[in-house]
Amino acid sequence: MEIVPLSDAVGAEIRGVDLRETLTTEMLDQIEAAFHDYAIVVLRDQDITLEQQKTFALHFGELGSRARPGKKPNELDEYGEHVMLVTNVRENGKAIGSLPDGEMTFHADTAYFEFPSKATMLYAMELPSWGGNTLFSNGYAAAEHLPEDMKRRLDGKKAMQVYEYGTTLKTKEKYDRENFPYYAHPIFRKHPATGRSALFVSELMTEEIVGMSKEESDEILAQLFEHQKQSEFVYEHEWKVGDLVMWDNRCTNHARTDFPRDERRMLRRLTIQDTTPVVEGAVPYTQAAAE
Ligand code: OGA
Ligand code: MN
Repeated sequence: MEIVPLSDAVGAEIRGVDLRETLTTEMLDQIEAAFHDYAIVVLRDQDITLEQQKTFALHFGELGSRARPGKKPNELDEYGEHVMLVTNVRENGKAIGSLPDGEMTFHADTAYFEFPSKATMLYAMELPSWGGNTLFSNGYAAAEHLPEDMKRRLDGKKAMQVYEYGTTLKTKEKYDRENFPYYAHPIFRKHPATGRSALFVSELMTEEIVGMSKEESDEILAQLFEHQKQSEFVYEHEWKVGDLVMWDNRCTNHARTDFPRDERRMLRRLTIQDTTPVVEGAVPYTQAAAE
């Protein structure tokens, strides 16, 4: 097995693994270590069934459920409780999956729950001729490279994560909290495996910094969102059919570039449920400033 970094920002490709085969404990340990070191792992040229994808995912924890408050399991599609098809494919004019069209702004999956998804695993099955790239922003680097005075202002603060299902671009200032979930999480989130602090806010889902005036909160969040999308923190994944990408929602945010509405794009998605609570991380002051 070979681990090859994908960018200076985040992510590594894992070579020499065929997910149709049974992986040894040693291989799984190496994959998990790479996942912790690089936050995103990419395995290319995989030709796997849903069952094989599930078997791989289950090495990292329980599968996340797609059941949602107010939505009965039998209202989910035929793929069942754990599988989401991320696709624009339509039958009788209706999208057969989720997150169908175009650009999406940065977010961490299900950040609006008390226990957000630990990881998300997307497997590419059909792709358009251009676009639909997934961008990943390194939350550790984003946190560490904030100006020191900003770190001080955010010390101990929480941000409210809110989401209306299906939204891919935030077009209104406030989501409907009567009907959709929300949860306040620490802005500096401690990763339970690495111990490092990551910036846990995103343009799509973070509405306000708790306990700040609206004016100050809006101003700071706008700065954080700009900061987070800087290219030095971002790896852009150009998908190929057979790519399997697993990302860590605890220390990265992701976004998607636009793609043609009239060309098919289909990826099969599983999430890994988190079981450890979200905890506050130390402010990642630089050593020079701390001295
Ligand atoms: C997701 C997601 C991005 C993409 O599945 O959570 O954000 O590239 N997908 O489709
Ligand atoms: Mn997502």
